[in-house]
Amino acid sequence: MYSEALITALMNADSVAVLTGAGVSAESGVKTFRDPDGLWMKFKPEELANFDAFMRNPELVWEWYNHRKEIAASVKPNPGHYAIAEMESLFKEFTLITQNVDDLHRRAGTSNPIELHGNITRSFCIDCNKFYDKVEVSEQQKIPKCDCGGMIRPDVVWFGEMLPMNAIQTATAAAQDADVFFSIGTSGEVYPAAQLPGIARQYGAYVVEVNPGKTSISFQMNECLLGPSGVVLPPIIEELKRRKLSA
Ligand code: OAD
Repeated sequence: MYSEALITALMNADSVAVLTGAGVSAESGVKTFRDPDGLWMKFKPEELANFDAFMRNPELVWEWYNHRKEIAASVKPNPGHYAIAEMESLFKEFTLITQNVDDLHRRAGTSNPIELHGNITRSFCIDCNKFYDKVEVSEQQKIPKCDCGGMIRPDVVWFGEMLPMNAIQTATAAAQDADVFFSIGTSGEVYPAAQLPGIARQYGAYVVEVNPGKTSISFQMNECLLGPSGVVLPPIIEELKRRKLSA
């Protein structure tokens, strides 16, 4: 259950930022990475999520990403995604920063998410960098090819790769500006995303974690709300709307 301190902080906030991780999509049926049934418990990141692996076996890497793309396309945003999307209209400044590549925040109505780790629906050519919104793979052509002949890869950040510069800079500025900062459904194990709640706290934000369990960054929080995001977030948004209407 949330505290009165959180509602007061939200009522007084001009600027709110939210960082999300795989946990926010768990209730939609998308597997997280580090939970007991998570993807990295079953698959090896070094065989699927780095550039050398792609160059060694692009067919395997595409097979895995196509499987994840199909899952993401077949599921629906959950009440957690919708509650976050609603926040956008409740504050002067609102920034959603996500580590998720599944596009569910956008589908729930968030207009301009900062996608720190890319987006699985997009792809680009490794030779000429041309972007593709949609690529088709078939039995005949298991590795999509660019008009220039180069191999096309998913537009996601792999291990050992830099985050998109603009995305991390905008996310850091949002963390510094935030009056309230939420860290939702992330284990806080992967940097630089995991440093954002600490930056927000250092710059004076009220920092809140939403997660069924404690994480390695829980100690940086003003408040930890223990539970699934689809259960924890909607009542907070409802209460906030009620107070704003009667204010
Ligand atoms: P993790 O799998 O590391 O952590 C997921 C977190 O979600 C855990 O702390 C869970 O307790 C929590 N969780 C599970 N169900 C939840 C629910 N219903 N509501 C809220 N929280 C829930 O996933 P991330 O922190 O997103 O990077 O992982 C960060 C990055 O590691 C990913 O973006 C990916 C991965 O390697 C790349 O692929 C570059």
